[in-house]
Amino acid sequence: MSAHRIDRPADLDVVRESYDHVADTYADMVITTGMGDIRRHPWLKASIDAFADTVGELGPVLDVGCGPGTVTAYLAERGLDVSGVDLSPRMIENARRLHPECRFGVASATELDLADASLGGVLGWWSLFNLPREVLPQVLAMFARALKPGGHLITGTHVGDEDVRRTEAYGGVPVRWTTHQWRPDLLVALIEEAGLQPVAELRLPADEFSGPGVVVMAKRPG
Ligand SMILES: C[S@@+](CC[C@H](N)C(=O)[O-])C[C@H]1O[C@@H](n2cnc3c(N)ncnc32)[C@H](O)[C@@H]1O
Repeated sequence: MSAHRIDRPADLDVVRESYDHVADTYADMVITTGMGDIRRHPWLKASIDAFADTVGELGPVLDVGCGPGTVTAYLAERGLDVSGVDLSPRMIENARRLHPECRFGVASATELDLADASLGGVLGWWSLFNLPREVLPQVLAMFARALKPGGHLITGTHVGDEDVRRTEAYGGVPVRWTTHQWRPDLLVALIEEAGLQPVAELRLPADEFSGPGVVVMAKRPG
């Protein structure tokens, strides 16, 4: 692991505290409004279904930044060997409460100890946009190493050019984090530089919960 140590984001503790603050509201909103619930968004569900169909037989799947575990639980229900990790202990408390049948742990994407070629799939599902721009490539490279040949990454993120300083989120809860928006072509280039081969890209216009987004699926060649 030391040979591939990932830089610790300077704001990691502040980001963790902010997600702890919003965790209960976020979990409520998934249930009451459908925010983040792929079952209520046909195109997101289709991309997660394609991912599940592709990696289902390949081995363990890790949902990095799983939040309250909505997608982790969906994949488990589909029969995948999946677990979730998240930076925020409170998010994980909610995930365990809502989905006691699933496995969850607290960890930062920047501090995971993943064995090489150990995963069939990895998700960074709207959970990598807080990583500083110079840190995201390091995390993508770690994902690439952790995937078995033929294993897949699926990631979704906010589209744009800006680093947006957020002071509130999810209905007005005070937070302090930066949303690093990505242009799809730049994100795809980073994924390629990490050693992965893009296989699909889905663009999403802004909706009532979020600005425009992009989903990219990529595989480790071999
Ligand atoms: C917008 S939520 C998405 C949660 C979940 N993937 C979903 O779709 O509902 C972003 C999540 O990323 C997590 N997160 C942010 N930075 C992280 C990091 N460095 N490592 C792991 N998780 C992180 C947050 O705690 C939060 O739960």
